[in-house]
Amino acid sequence: MKILSEKFIYGGDYNPEQWLDEEGILEEDIRLMKLAHINCVTLGVFSWSSLEPKEGQYQLDWLEDVICRLYENGISTILATPSGARPKWMTNKYPEVLRTTEDRRKNLYGGRHNHCFTSPVYREKVAKINTQLANRFKDNPAVILWHISNEFGGECHCPLCQKAFQTWLKEKYKTPENMNHAWWSKFWSHTYEDFSDVESPSSIGETGLHGLLLDWKRFTSDQTIDYMKWEIHALRMAGAKQPVTTNFMYNIPEANYTKMAKEVDIVSWDTYPTWHKYEGSDIEVAQDNGMQHDFMRSLLHKPYLLMESCPSSTNWQPVSKLKKPGLLHAQSMQALAHGSDSVQYFQIRQSRGSSEKFHGAVIDHYGKEDTRVFREVRKIGEDLESLSEMVCGTTTKATAAILYDVESRWAMEEAQGPRNQGMYYKESVLKNYKALKRMGLDVDVLDCDGDLSGYEIVVAPMLYMLRSNIEEKLKDYVENGGILLGSYFSGVVDENDLCFLGETPYGLCQVFGFRREEIDGLYDWEEKEFLPVKGNSLGLENIYHCSHLFELEKIKTAEPLMTVKGDFYDGYPAVTKNAYGKGWAYCVCGDGEEALYNEVVERIVDSHNLYSPIEGPLEEGLVLTSRESMEHKFFFLQNFSYKEKTAPKELEGRLIYGDLKPFGTAIYEITKLKTL
Ligand code: GLA
Ligand code: ZN
Repeated sequence: MKILSEKFIYGGDYNPEQWLDEEGILEEDIRLMKLAHINCVTLGVFSWSSLEPKEGQYQLDWLEDVICRLYENGISTILATPSGARPKWMTNKYPEVLRTTEDRRKNLYGGRHNHCFTSPVYREKVAKINTQLANRFKDNPAVILWHISNEFGGECHCPLCQKAFQTWLKEKYKTPENMNHAWWSKFWSHTYEDFSDVESPSSIGETGLHGLLLDWKRFTSDQTIDYMKWEIHALRMAGAKQPVTTNFMYNIPEANYTKMAKEVDIVSWDTYPTWHKYEGSDIEVAQDNGMQHDFMRSLLHKPYLLMESCPSSTNWQPVSKLKKPGLLHAQSMQALAHGSDSVQYFQIRQSRGSSEKFHGAVIDHYGKEDTRVFREVRKIGEDLESLSEMVCGTTTKATAAILYDVESRWAMEEAQGPRNQGMYYKESVLKNYKALKRMGLDVDVLDCDGDLSGYEIVVAPMLYMLRSNIEEKLKDYVENGGILLGSYFSGVVDENDLCFLGETPYGLCQVFGFRREEIDGLYDWEEKEFLPVKGNSLGLENIYHCSHLFELEKIKTAEPLMTVKGDFYDGYPAVTKNAYGKGWAYCVCGDGEEALYNEVVERIVDSHNLYSPIEGPLEEGLVLTSRESMEHKFFFLQNFSYKEKTAPKELEGRLIYGDLKPFGTAIYEITKLKTL
């Protein structure tokens, strides 16, 4: 079976350069890895000073030796380019490679990820080391995947980046007049005569020109992607043919992952959830983490890789909590359940010193296999091996799509709109997501560039910025029979962050059957009530609280399903329903509590007969996902509670794995086609 396409990858980050001069460690690590069923490691992340200790003097023999010794023992390698950290000689000679902060301070040497994405010197040095690596390993069967740099993010405000930003703006706007219009810069006399006058946003300079702020974020993301492409290009020019990936992060605001994913062959990401905060919190964390998994899967609509996770406690969260027995197993199975073809850790062997010496590892400072963590790691390895043949490579066909758009998030965070102490965009997306998951639906997480066809329901919470023609796509979708669930603060600005004039939500008033009149920001202590309208056609029955935001809609054709109570706008619609074309558009008009979304989504799923493998909501604590191939469908039912659960009786399939004890995972299989 080929690792990467037919066999789950099991392994993690391994930095043996820390112990090369100590006899026997590599042998012992190999022994332990084999015991744990580890079949792959990620080498070379941050290894630059061991690979090029002096400028132009490359030392790759140790790496080749490690790669070959691992491979002889059945362990493949994901090989990282080392650019996430750099040797001191480089910054001594070329200080330009270091970042400049937004207040225009040049960083000193130190840390990691502290490099300028624009610097020609950095790019040249990276291209050279990548060429060396590709020359040496392009034909080595042990190396199955390139891992480009590490966790791209951050920004640089150095003179080189300023220049690149100006060029980016010139390409985008052609004339300063176009840019001034898009940025609405006559306001406060902030017009620019020339592109060369523009500087990146700064706390000691411009912070109020929203178009500039937004374009800076887009530029930073584009420049990061451009830099990544440069790294990939260097590998390809040297003849490397293996696929490439880069490790994405949880909910980061610095990059447009939809765009970045287009430049890699496989999406991968690092997950470090904060488990066990209080009793009952693990299901919350699992849902939140699950949404990120679904987002990663949806980027290329194919299996992705879990690149890093922690086998024990992390050491950078406020409290370094141990994972309770069984939780690591559940977290690992969760990756599989949402479509990952791997489980990988940071780190295989725990470092002895420096900043991650207390970060969890497969092999800790004690160094042997008789530890609680190692036993669980080993059990996961056994289970992955047994499931690989059936499940690896299968994909998810989601009933629902939810929109979570990073560009809209960028704009909303700077909007100086109805609330400056939290708009709760992600939280609102998550509430909708959880309501869909509660009904057992598989969910794809898309952004405005997404293709909406094929989904039975599309949920678009707080769609503040419209771009990529999303309003037209949504309109067509509903017109042709789709079910849309939207919410307040939608269709407010265009892709330049200019407010739409006339009726809003722009382009969607007919679809929703109302127009926005005003939006009220609520103080943190303030709450309104949502009351069901007697005899409403969706059958909503309960009363809910609303906080943070409430939008006043002027009804045209929509049916109010609930109304609000508690202010001068008593009686305004709080939840609406509208027939449009062959479909239906629902809207929640304020930031309702989670239970509101649960009831709304439950009623929608029931009344429109949306596909779900279960009838009615899942019991609290359970999560259901599916993966399928042409022949089989697998349901993953996971228990993130401390109590044993039972599966909904209508869930079809043969139990092929596991149980529903606390932190348990059960897998059910249905044979779709009978093969001869
Ligand atoms: C990130 C990094 C790793 C390591 C872990 C620790 O994911 O990529 O190098 O620092 O965090 O949790
Ligand atoms: Zn820079």
